[in-house]
Amino acid sequence: MERDSINALMEKTEQWILPELENVFTLEEAEDITVKAALYSLYAGGKRLRPLMMYLTSDMLKLDFDIDADVKYFAATLEMLHTYSLIHDDLPALDNDDLRRGKPTCHKAFGEGIAVLAGDLLLNKAMERLFLMCEKHPGYTYAASAMAENSGISGMLGGQSIDIASEDKEISLELLTELQRKKTGAFIEAAVVTPYYLSKLMKRSDSAKDETATDLRKLAEHIGLAFQIKDDILDVTSDRETLGKSTGKDIRDSKATFVTLLGLEGAKKRLEDESDCIRVILDKFDNNGFDTTDYRTLTDFLVNRDR
Ligand code: IPE
Ligand code: IPE
Ligand code: MG
Ligand code: MG
Ligand code: MG
Repeated sequence: MERDSINALMEKTEQWILPELENVFTLEEAEDITVKAALYSLYAGGKRLRPLMMYLTSDMLKLDFDIDADVKYFAATLEMLHTYSLIHDDLPALDNDDLRRGKPTCHKAFGEGIAVLAGDLLLNKAMERLFLMCEKHPGYTYAASAMAENSGISGMLGGQSIDIASEDKEISLELLTELQRKKTGAFIEAAVVTPYYLSKLMKRSDSAKDETATDLRKLAEHIGLAFQIKDDILDVTSDRETLGKSTGKDIRDSKATFVTLLGLEGAKKRLEDESDCIRVILDKFDNNGFDTTDYRTLTDFLVNRDR
């Protein structure tokens, strides 16, 4: 069977995630300025890589078509959490950025106060959606709570905390890896594993024992690292227009990144190592009879992307 190019995969994802996002707020809610600001950032574009990864896992593992709508619902919820993290990441108190997804950042367009609230709103709404889902399908409780944890202190927020606390400091490679694994890796883990958790009605007590779940988490860990190393590289090698966000700011702000710690060549080498790890894990899925072609297409994009 002929497989899709990365552009085709991304276009397909955009086609199903947009209608899903349109259902997040009611027309009445959308009259509110904070909701408008949240929608501005949610619709500003972005690569939608996390929803794409959810689709890739469902497709690779040939998960039951019946859970398709629920996977989409969780994908939109994760995209909301990701967008909240970006709105707050760009605030003057954090990275102080003026461009995101090729547009003025949320606080540039709506002011700082509303941008803080828009981030809070997306986080709160995401949690409301997770609770609603659990009420309907109690079997999804672990999947939902794992996603909430991926957003919290052991996940994205914890990574951001180390990121901010490490400014102007020299940190170990070990701490940097923990920083990146949390701030970026945690949401990627949620994307890669959630469809499988949903299909299995996974329980917390079974999650560590399940071999496929463990392999998916390993896959996500290396995809997350590869993704963030590339993000660090692009900050020094790309430009604002191509990337849709500002560049050169990690050095400016004395951030701890793979490039500031290992140098550009060292970071590129580490990226190669991570992509080798991804390939080895995908080989195992291949050997178990799954088609990993699209995940390999995504890996090539993550390593070679310019945006
Ligand atoms: C940017 O993520 C933030 C990081 C985790 C490095 P993406 O590069 O996936 O952002 P969008 O969604 O495409 O804007
Ligand atoms: C932030 O990392 C990742 C988040 C959790 C939002 P960066 O600060 O490197 O992301 P960019 O480069 O601004 O997208
Ligand atoms: Mg940041
Ligand atoms: Mg930033
Ligand atoms: Mg960055």
